[in-house]
This record gives sequence, C-alpha cells and structure tokens, in this order.
Amino acid sequence: MAATTQERMDDLEGPIMRIGTDLATRMPRPRAVSTARVERRMQELMMSDPALRAALFRFVDVRPACATPADVTRHLHELLAEAEDSRLAGRAATITGRKLASRPVAAIAATGVKQMAQRFIVGADAKDSLPTITGLWKNGVDATVDLLGEATVSEAEADRYMQRCEDALRTLAQAAKQYPNRDVNLSVKVSALTPLLRNPMAPERGIEGARPRLRHLLTVARDVGAHLHVDMESFDTREAITRLTLDLLSQPEFANGPSAGIVLQAYLVDSPEYLDELIAWAKATPRKHPFTIRLVKGAYWDHEVVQAAQNGWAPPVFTDRRECDRNFEKLTKVLIDNAGPIRVAIASHNLRSISAAAAYADSRSVGNDLLEFQILRGLGDDTQAAIAATGRRVRCYCPVGDLVAGMAYLVRRLLENTANDSFLAAAASGTTTAQLLEAP
Ligand code: 2OP
Repeated sequence: MAATTQERMDDLEGPIMRIGTDLATRMPRPRAVSTARVERRMQELMMSDPALRAALFRFVDVRPACATPADVTRHLHELLAEAEDSRLAGRAATITGRKLASRPVAAIAATGVKQMAQRFIVGADAKDSLPTITGLWKNGVDATVDLLGEATVSEAEADRYMQRCEDALRTLAQAAKQYPNRDVNLSVKVSALTPLLRNPMAPERGIEGARPRLRHLLTVARDVGAHLHVDMESFDTREAITRLTLDLLSQPEFANGPSAGIVLQAYLVDSPEYLDELIAWAKATPRKHPFTIRLVKGAYWDHEVVQAAQNGWAPPVFTDRRECDRNFEKLTKVLIDNAGPIRVAIASHNLRSISAAAAYADSRSVGNDLLEFQILRGLGDDTQAAIAATGRRVRCYCPVGDLVAGMAYLVRRLLENTANDSFLAAAASGTTTAQLLEAP
C-alpha cells in the first residue's frame, strides 16, 4: 500500500537532521546574524521593552507623512522618546523626583534603524544596486528586487512606483544578458500601485486603481523575459490582491508570459484552504510558466494581532509560533506534492523549515527547476551561502530604495526578529543545531 503523506513525513527526521547539520557546518557563524554593536543593543532593548516595540509599530502609521530622511529621524526619535518617557516616568519620579534629561534608548534605537537600513537595503535604485546583484549572480545566487514603497497615498506616487519598477526590470534585464544562468525577478506590492487598496469600504476601487499599473508591469516583464512576483501584505488586502493577480494572469495576453507568482502566508489560520484555491486555479489555468507560490511565515503579525484586538475579532494568525511552524511544514508538503503546475519557493531563515522542505523535496525527486529557497538580504546571508554551496537553488530578496521608503520594511524586520519566539533570536542565543532542527 502506498505510504500516506503522514507516513512519508514521519520518515524524514533523519534526512532533516542530516541536511540541517550539513547546512549549519557550512556557515561561518551559524548562530548569529552579524550586526553592528548599536544595532545589537537596539535589538536587546526591543526584546525587553514592550513600550518600545509598540512605539516602533505606531511609527509605521506616521511613516507615509514623512517626506525626507530628516522627517523620518525626527518622527522616529519623538515616538521612541515618548515611549521611553512613559516607561521611565514612574521609576524616575520615585527615585529622583525629576524628569530625565537624556533619552539614550531613543537615540540608540534611531541609530540602530539607520544601521539596519545599510545592511538590508542594497541600493537607492536599480542601477545603484547592480554591483550587489551581479555579485550575487556571480556566486550562483538568484535575486528578486523589491522596490521599497507601500501604502501609497496618491495617484502620482503610484505612477512613480510603477515607473521605478519598470526601470528596474529594464536595467536588470540588460545586466542579466551577461549571466545566462541567472534570471530577472521583481517583487511588487499592490498597495504601492494604488492609493485605494486599504479602503475597506471599497476594495473594488482599490483593485481597479492598481489594475492598469500591474498590467503594465506584467507586459514589461513579459517583453524583457522577467518574472513578476506579487507580494502579500496585511490580511485585509489579501482577497483584493489575489483576485486582481489571478484575474490578470488569466488573460490570454499573458498566457505565454511573464512567469509570475504570489505569496502564501503560513501564519494565517486559513492558509491551507487558501492554498487549495490557488492550486485549483493554477491547474485550471494553463500558462507557459508554472505559477510560482512563495511560502512565507508572514511579516505583518504585530499588525494583525493589534488590529484584531482593536476590533474585538479573533486574530487571523496563529499566536503560537510552533503551530505556525507546523503549518509551514504542512503547506510545504502540499506545495511540493503539486510541483509541476506550481513552482515552489520556500522563503524562511529557519533552519528546520528549510531542512524539512529540502528533505521532503528530495524524497519526491523535486529539484531546482521546481523548487527554490528564498532569504531576505542581510538576515540570512550565511544560510543563503550554505544553501547555494549544497547545489540547491536560492534567491536573495533585495530591497531597493531609500530610508523613507524603507521604514515600514525595516520596522517589520525589527519586530519579527526581536519577538521572543523568533527563530533568529533562538539561533543567536546559544541553542544547539540539534535543538534548532527539532520538529516544531
Ligand atoms: C516584506 O516586505 C519581505 O515582503 C516582505 O516585509
């Protein structure tokens, strides 16, 4: 009798341990993300201080009002200082009876965010980013470029974002001619292509606002032979983003290209049903290139939890990390079982999740043509190099833009990596490789 998925999964702990240990031994610093000192200090502060986390989280809401890097620094500093004052007010009043003059925590955090920007963002525009991207290509690593900018506030801003995306596609396609084994891959956020997406009363208008711009980018991607990937954002926009993307990709004009894909967020409790719908669509909509699904944990966890609490809803996300990790592995298997009509991208820095995907793919003889791993620039550079060294395909997610456009992105990285249950935090705190590779 054929083994069930469950039985095959149970057999995989040995291969997972072997693959994970092999990857870990190839990493120069397997259990620490290399960071500057101020940045490390900031991360420690974030982990120990919920008020600072909340302040940074609130900062993402005022970010669209910032026009210059100086605005960003000022707003950020004010919010963090406010958090620090409220945190220390009680203690300071009882100990000294006077207000504190300096705000060291706010200063550390503001500097730390700027340092993160230098580590995570590969350049101000596509041209500026080319040395880093061709450097990856030379090392056998693919790239996807993400033009920073989201939650657009005007039509003119949406047009500029579309133009930046088009410029990036053309610049990369030109550069890629010298790297025949590498591809051009762009990630876009629909909320940057229309100011209307986040209006919950009129999601249709949001879709219609983004449609001509996304269609234009699909046309450019098709013409230059690039892959266009639609990023997923907060849960309230998932339905609109999915409908728009699948509808455009169903059009005859895109049947022969471009290669395209969407994102599946494993932290969403209903992600298995959502995946079933994506697979059914892909099977019913034959296109020249298999539909790519990038599996991620999900980057908007704090947003989802806070929004649900404010509205008295149950959060749409798992609140237990291990449940989320188990779901990630379950979705990985379904994706790999459907490799063919689907191309699979496993986007994680978690050594266990990566090793589980690799072990299952090996057991199903799914190779680099239908499976790749993805790593965020600056967060898993050693993991990325180790994956490439084992001959598996790996792609680096490369944000491009300035500090103003990148603030929301940086705050997401900061919140997720300083969460108490983050994998990277565990990896940095002396946990053994064997423990990191344990089943969730
Ligand atoms: C984000 O922008 C990586 O798309 C993910 O947070």
